[in-house]
Amino acid sequence: MRKAPRRVHKPPPRSAVTAPLSIVVLAAGAGRRMQSDLPKVLQPLAGRPLLAHVLDLADSLEPAAVHVVYGHGGERVRECIEGAKTDAPPGAGERAARHWVLQAEQLGTGHAVRQAMPEIADEHQVLVLYGDVPLLRAQTLRELCALATTGGRGREAAGRGGADGIALLTALLEEPAGYGRVVRDRRGAVQSIVEESDAGARERGIREINSGVLVAPARLLKQWLAQLHPRNAQGEYYLTDVAALAVRHRLRVATLAASDPSEILGINDRLQLAQAEAEYRRRRARALMERGVTIIDPMRIDVRGTVQTGRDVVLDVNVVLDGLDGPVRLGDGVRLGPNCVVVNSAIGAHTQVHANCVMVGADIGESCSIGPFTRLRPGAQIAGGVHLGNFVEIKNSEIGARSKVNHLSYVGDTTVGSGVNIGAGTVTANYDGANKWRTRIGDDAFIGSGSMLVAPVSIGAGANVGAGSTITADAPEGKLTLARARQVTIEGWQRPRKTTKP
Ligand code: UD1
Ligand code: CA
Repeated sequence: MRKAPRRVHKPPPRSAVTAPLSIVVLAAGAGRRMQSDLPKVLQPLAGRPLLAHVLDLADSLEPAAVHVVYGHGGERVRECIEGAKTDAPPGAGERAARHWVLQAEQLGTGHAVRQAMPEIADEHQVLVLYGDVPLLRAQTLRELCALATTGGRGREAAGRGGADGIALLTALLEEPAGYGRVVRDRRGAVQSIVEESDAGARERGIREINSGVLVAPARLLKQWLAQLHPRNAQGEYYLTDVAALAVRHRLRVATLAASDPSEILGINDRLQLAQAEAEYRRRRARALMERGVTIIDPMRIDVRGTVQTGRDVVLDVNVVLDGLDGPVRLGDGVRLGPNCVVVNSAIGAHTQVHANCVMVGADIGESCSIGPFTRLRPGAQIAGGVHLGNFVEIKNSEIGARSKVNHLSYVGDTTVGSGVNIGAGTVTANYDGANKWRTRIGDDAFIGSGSMLVAPVSIGAGANVGAGSTITADAPEGKLTLARARQVTIEGWQRPRKTTKP
């Protein structure tokens, strides 16, 4: 018998099997359970609004368009989001066209989706996301879209499936309270979704819940949404009722159970917001560890935005890496001690940062020793081999190679050469109350402790400034400059005695 040639099944390209994708993001709800003046979708998760996370996810699916339904909080939501920072890695494709759709009255999730439908062509596949479900993975959503197309019947059906299937993202939860439940018939086919407030005791016992995320063909979704009615406990038009309508339409409702229930976490109150933050933290820590970073306690670290790390980086407890405004870059072998906050800064290889340092917009070279308790502000450019110690603040200044500022000093608007030693308690007085002025300190200069350098002023290369000097004019190179009252001792002086009052 001749063997049939083995057929290689290559998954067809997306465009060949699926219709164009339109994403609807629901973000109009008030979020009463938050007890907040801030609209729910603007509550911050890892430093950014919940909705910003959902929109990044939507964009990553490269849809034809994203429709954001907004209402509660109105223009504030829109303005805040259009100005929000992105978490997306650089070079992550172009953003899809974004349409803002106003839902003037919040009459329910079904009503909300209906507001966006006039803008969506009949042949599109529609993916509905909730602005308060921020931890979904793009891969899960891609699977859901594919499942809607094939109706769960395997790839064979893909060719003729078009966009005519409906698929729900579900999850099995130990504690399903608060979510809509997926009701199935005896053969396991989905019949409907019942909201908790409408559920009887038996339905409340169902552990399979609706995540709210669904995929459906635009043409049918429009029909179903027009048939919704608000006869339920909350008096709302439920999007979830389209499941029962699809069944009545003799369509099989496919489901995909999220393998990781944290993905479908819906944020309604501050407890869930904290749970989402913890999950986000866990994911970012895990990603760093997979890239070779040692994290002393993965539950006590926060990583936001773009963070790049070299090999053998060590992060101690309570480190915060914030790359939202600009990337955080940590070179090979960088060690950050406990409680360090690094925002939009680069740290060169083998630099050690001791406990309790804060740096924002700083650029630090290789093999430096920083802290404990050093503060680096924007424009701090620290060359290699520099030592900065406790209670030292540096702003908008360059510090040359191997220079030392070890204790209790302020260096602002200053250019420091290489091999300079700045003694304890030195202050560059850079501000005259109206303008900022620069200080220049040449290579190998030595600034005695407790000196005031009143800018604009220059200290020459190799110059010494005597301790306690208040320097108001340039100090020449290679010489000792002193600017302090000469010390005198008064002979025969007597300490005053307490007199008896008359
Ligand atoms: C919804 C689902 C529920 C699911 C849960 C998952 C419905 C009826 N129920 O319940 O089955 O288990 O999500 O998290 O869909 N929104 C609007 N306009 C409105 C109402 C809501 O835009 O008129 C938005 C909200 O801003 C929110 C989302 O829709 O982003 C979900 O609304 P919410 O009230 O939180 O629904 P749940 O009660 O959580
Ligand atoms: Ca919700």
